[in-house]
Amino acid sequence: MNPIKVGLLGIGTVGSGTFHVLQRNQEEIRRRAGRGIEITMVADLDVERARAVVGDQVQVVNDARAVIANPEIDIVIELIGGYGIAKALVLEAIAAGKHVVTANKALLAVHGTEIFAAASAKGVMVAFEAAVAGGIPIIKALREGLTANAIQWIAGIINGTTNFILSEMRDKGLDFEVVLKEAQRLGYAEADPTFDIEGVDAAHKATLMSAIAFGIPVQFDKAYVEGITRLSAADIRYAEQLGYRIKLLGITKRAANGIELRVHPSLVPAKRLIANVEGAMNAVMVQGDAVGTTLYYGKGAGSEPTASAVIADLVDITRLHTADAAQRVPHLAFQPDAMSDVPVLPMSEVITSYYLRLRVSDEAGVLARVTGILATAGISIDAVLQREADEVGGEGSTQTDLIILTHDTREGIMNAAMAEMQGLPTVLAPITRIRKEELA
Ligand code: HSE
Repeated sequence: MNPIKVGLLGIGTVGSGTFHVLQRNQEEIRRRAGRGIEITMVADLDVERARAVVGDQVQVVNDARAVIANPEIDIVIELIGGYGIAKALVLEAIAAGKHVVTANKALLAVHGTEIFAAASAKGVMVAFEAAVAGGIPIIKALREGLTANAIQWIAGIINGTTNFILSEMRDKGLDFEVVLKEAQRLGYAEADPTFDIEGVDAAHKATLMSAIAFGIPVQFDKAYVEGITRLSAADIRYAEQLGYRIKLLGITKRAANGIELRVHPSLVPAKRLIANVEGAMNAVMVQGDAVGTTLYYGKGAGSEPTASAVIADLVDITRLHTADAAQRVPHLAFQPDAMSDVPVLPMSEVITSYYLRLRVSDEAGVLARVTGILATAGISIDAVLQREADEVGGEGSTQTDLIILTHDTREGIMNAAMAEMQGLPTVLAPITRIRKEELA
């Protein structure tokens, strides 16, 4: 059988990795897919760069629409990124009857409902393994491998840049700004790292996992998003002394009255495997009612790791494109007419536990007043750590840090208690609050 023909839109890091891995492993991929898979046309604004990657045997153009218009192309890979032109091209490719493979988490987290509906109406597939956790086959695991389970929760380190920064902060005792500059110098962080450090990239990925896990529409606008920019080396150190590591987690959870969808720094017990995921690596924990806890670990970015996911999608489409559309795995794991409208909960409704750090006057009664407010709010304390004033503020200091770990409470209750504690004259600075996940 002739190879299936693929058009590639955007040949940067992931595109060139995809081209090279497809070439290198073509024979094995053919044996798995049942026929060859060939990139025959590439569109990139930088035609010279594209030509340098693919050589003379592949048609290179600077107009993505020429790829979409080519009747010989069955699958379009979109690696342009962003919501603008990428969205238009994906929808045009679908309208032209092409299957689409994309690594574009931002596009699908925001416009997924429209894109999947268009694809279903046209009878084509939109595959996006590369959009979440790069080379880790987490979409496949959630959509197929764990299909027997009622998923209870997912918690993932799904942004390598921020995990690298947090690892460096812990290892070297440095503050966020210092490590960010170093990460940018080394090329681990983008020149504009906003999406990574503010948690937006992780929230795009968490949104997609949430939809697949619970059969709800993609709802990025309902996600709670908090990045790592306000974390201090002191909090990482105190967490360590209490037996925890701080990780930026993407969390989605089935709760009694809805679905939690949130990204924020979290204390995780140091003894959990996921707490020991260091540097730019990714890891995702999934808890299912039948399987229990599972953990997926690997590279969440990079040329060939992400290409590995893109090509897995190409193989799936090659195997399935002649099948009746109703027999294919649904885009979001659940049949489109069986999606749930269970709401994504506002953050004030989320139940979790907390790390609080209060800079206080080191005088009689301070601890009693603070714990009194927590007791009145019905918030149970798990542990308290108080450093000596000299250690915190230097010799003769009259200020100290009071660190409190709480048991589970509703975030809205914690917000009210924090406001009351903040009003105490002996609380001298804004209270630091970091959520805590036991992941048991
Ligand atoms: N910027 C992402 C990260 C990789 O740092 O993990 C692509 O999603």
